[in-house]
Amino acid sequence: MARIPDEVINQVRSSINILDVVRQRVDLKKSGRNYFGLCPFHSEKTPSFSVDEEKQIFHCFSCGRGGNVFSFLMELDGSTFPEAVNKIAEEAGIELADSYQTAGVVNSQANQEKKQLLALYKEVSELYHYILTATNAGQEALDYLHQRGITDEMISEFQLGYAPEEKLLEAYFQEHKVDIALIQKSGLFIDRTDGSMYERFRDRVMFPICDEVGRVIAFSGRLLHKDDSKQQPKYLNSPEMLLFNKGKVLFNYDKARQASRDDHQIILFEGFMDVLSAYQAGVKNGVASMGTSLTSEQINLIERIVPKINICYDGDQAGQQATKRAIELITPYSQKITLSVTVLPEQLDPDEFIKKYGPDQFRRVIKQQQLGVLDFYLSFLAIDRNLANESDQALYIQDFLQVLAKQATVVEQDLYLNRLGQQFDLDKASLQAQLRQILAVTDRQPRTHQSKYREDYSQFDQFQIPVVTQEVNHFDKVERAERLLLYRMLTEHTIWDQIENTVDFAFVHRKYESIWLIARGYFNIHSDYDSASFIDFLQDEDLKQTIVNLEMHGFTWESSSQEINDCLNVIMNQSPLEAKIKELSEQLQQAKRLNNRELITSLTMNLVDLYRQRQAVR
Ligand code: UTP
Ligand code: MN
Repeated sequence: MARIPDEVINQVRSSINILDVVRQRVDLKKSGRNYFGLCPFHSEKTPSFSVDEEKQIFHCFSCGRGGNVFSFLMELDGSTFPEAVNKIAEEAGIELADSYQTAGVVNSQANQEKKQLLALYKEVSELYHYILTATNAGQEALDYLHQRGITDEMISEFQLGYAPEEKLLEAYFQEHKVDIALIQKSGLFIDRTDGSMYERFRDRVMFPICDEVGRVIAFSGRLLHKDDSKQQPKYLNSPEMLLFNKGKVLFNYDKARQASRDDHQIILFEGFMDVLSAYQAGVKNGVASMGTSLTSEQINLIERIVPKINICYDGDQAGQQATKRAIELITPYSQKITLSVTVLPEQLDPDEFIKKYGPDQFRRVIKQQQLGVLDFYLSFLAIDRNLANESDQALYIQDFLQVLAKQATVVEQDLYLNRLGQQFDLDKASLQAQLRQILAVTDRQPRTHQSKYREDYSQFDQFQIPVVTQEVNHFDKVERAERLLLYRMLTEHTIWDQIENTVDFAFVHRKYESIWLIARGYFNIHSDYDSASFIDFLQDEDLKQTIVNLEMHGFTWESSSQEINDCLNVIMNQSPLEAKIKELSEQLQQAKRLNNRELITSLTMNLVDLYRQRQAVR
């Protein structure tokens, strides 16, 4: 395998957010600027592992491991560096040239085919988009979307398209010489019994379905003209095939993943139009399953990125039934996912609600009206019941006690028995007896705790953000000044120049001096400092760790000239002379070994100067 060039490494590294990579493997909680969690590299009870999203690095202040996204994978699963680059490229949807690919990723036939299909879907989605936005054939569909309130910006953001009634793809594929075998596998055509094929999507508004990195892997097409004489589904999906398995995909997952970063939750909608309208209203972390009920794979997709789901299905009865089913599907994951429900009034679906009440109101409702699961059941079970009527009331209570038995913690059970008792003026003891009866026949024990996340979070909440005090303390005054100065030099160009022009300046400790030296090379290629890329540039493991340590120290944002002068003063004048001499002598040895003339000269001069100072003191 050829050495992967730096540009490629940089491209791969900057195409992915370390936070996404780490989050898939470690539970993280945001605290201040950073994310914290339990270190995956050693066992611990309080979190000392953190990810700095801005710098794109991780660090554990307990075991001292740290680095960029590649180091993380190498550390975690023992990948080599090229393997780590390959894995990240794969996750980011970047195709590495064959010569840089490591064994596992090598072009299997399925992999080749997948690539070809991805390219095909990309082309076709661009074609449908073009038809919608730039041709007469698409005008009516475009009007339809506009009339539904979808803006041009959204149309391009989601690359919506239109598949016309007339034949489109056949001619296009012929012209572009697309392999017939590939077309057959694409699911874009339906085989007729006579062996001919016709296009699956005709007269449909096309919603591209993307994988988790935003590559088009399927379509869902919404009928534009309803023809009652033909039995056509309102939405038609691509068939299952190599790229697409509808149980494993969520509409808008790729964008929601980014958007859920601050919100720490995903909003689950029923329909594509709801996701679109919500997105346009500023709720970008919405996803929808593909017209089927939720699967465990889809729940896993969500669970990997956020600790919470808010269900916002249609406000009508069907929507509420579907909500109940979704709750039942997600409940087994209650260790990992907290669940809530937003019930929209007047039986509206999210799309209609936004039309009627506007985006601001929608955002407010999504944010503030989140019912816990038990509260949802309280209102759900009241649907179609007259609670003033005693027999309806009895059924209602019986149903709710079932829910309590199955889904509630002991504390919740107690709380809700009180509420029921008050609401219906019933004796709590009799409700308790009834609940106990139900519990006796269900084998399930009440949940003993809230979701794991809530537990972890409460633990986090008490946990002070690690200000890396141990490290601060074991550095003496000189080293602290060195570290601060080095950090400023790396991150601020003006400081760099100032120090370069300071005659006789040298770091006392060799490692800082080395980093300075290497950084010169780095700045020859890179105009700006970037922690994660500098870490790859350094190569030496000790130096890498030194940089991570520096980065994680949390220096204030900008320097002042006073601060820089203080650092210089401490480093140049206050370091214990002997230590300085010793360090410089070692550096001189090193320089001699490397035959670095320039360095030898400057170090020798520094040393002479130091010897003179020592003379003077004596
Ligand atoms: P809806 O009928 O509620 O769709 O179905 P919608 O989003 O409100 O669509 P508009 O507003 O009429 O355009 C909800 C979801 O169920 C799936 C689709 O995923 C749709 O978004 N569905 C619906 C199908 O897969 N096939 C269908 O025929 C209908
Ligand atoms: Mn709708």
